[in-house]
Amino acid sequence: MHIIQMSILKIARLGHPILQEIASPVDDYKDPEIKKIISDMIETLEDSGGIGLAAPQVHISKRIVIFFVPESRMEDEKDQAELTIMINPEIKPLNNKINRDWEACLSIPNLMGAVERYSHIKYSWFDINGKYFEREASGYHARVVQHECDHLDGKLYTFRIADLSMLGFQEEINSNVELLERGRVVPPSNKISRIPNA
Ligand code: NI
Repeated sequence: MHIIQMSILKIARLGHPILQEIASPVDDYKDPEIKKIISDMIETLEDSGGIGLAAPQVHISKRIVIFFVPESRMEDEKDQAELTIMINPEIKPLNNKINRDWEACLSIPNLMGAVERYSHIKYSWFDINGKYFEREASGYHARVVQHECDHLDGKLYTFRIADLSMLGFQEEINSNVELLERGRVVPPSNKISRIPNA
């Protein structure tokens, strides 16, 4: 039996150039190197206490993402609590509806910002056997997928903050109820327009 040695990888932080690169698609899903990268990403995510990780965040410029939806943010019991491992994921918004909510990122420790995202998306990916999958998602689930896939296109959530008064330290914002609430309300004047395809 072949045992994969897993390692915790170093996480690149805001300012590192790899976080702004367009990551390369994976050509050979079954390549043992891809399996090793995914094992290490899982180990790294578990160690970090985060909910999602994209390969560029561990200095690997390939289109691989892992994520799950924490129980507290699930819309119903069918929502995605299991870890999803995606190779070459793609996202399509299902309509123009957007919502704003707070996000944080392992590459931007201690900060959080309120970001507008599509409310309803369809997304697809391949697994390590090259099998194709697709799902529809809304709310927080859709937000996590958009945040993680943005990393594959060299974008961090801070690049999408329309109003920089909505960026701050988690510790401060979590005790600022007024700001917390404001971050979750999309102003009527602020519909869709500026949101590029994720
Ligand atoms: Ni992130």
